[in-house]
Amino acid sequence: MYGEAFEKKLEKQESRYPEDRKRANLMAALHAVQDEVGHVPEDAIHWLAERYGISSADVQGVIRFYTMFFEDKPGEHVIWVCRTFSCELMGGAKVMAAMEKALGCKVGESDPTGTFGLRWQECLAACDKAPCALIDKDMYECLTPETVELVLEHVKNGGGGARVEGEKLVPLREGAVR
Ligand code: FES
Repeated sequence: MYGEAFEKKLEKQESRYPEDRKRANLMAALHAVQDEVGHVPEDAIHWLAERYGISSADVQGVIRFYTMFFEDKPGEHVIWVCRTFSCELMGGAKVMAAMEKALGCKVGESDPTGTFGLRWQECLAACDKAPCALIDKDMYECLTPETVELVLEHVKNGGGGARVEGEKLVPLREGAVR
């Protein structure tokens, strides 16, 4: 569907399963599609359903159950703000409100330029550095409403995960998710 390299990748994943259990690769296949085009479009849903001998509704059900899959383009960068207890107590909702204001969109939407998508997420396992957000695959810790613009600029410039200290962003260790 997305060229020879993509097909080879899928076949390699599927080779781990018995011939009559290829559908067990559905989650990995959804990730592969999303890595390729940034979301799982409708034609890919039908194509995967046919490939694995299941209904399109079943494929869609998996996509809608897991928050990490997108049926529509979520934006070039996806911001996941944590809304669980520690982050909520430490001002996560205010950080989200500042994000919405800075981006001109609501949670669940993407900004008018399609650069950022905004989502809630549950605990990101960095409760001691609340409030936190995951942006793409990078952690951002100790966020404040006042530093949201700084974080957005940092991401646009290709910066990786960081922690807010005062009015500055301090990079997390190289390659760290957290
Ligand atoms: Fe937000 Fe745990 S509550 S990281």
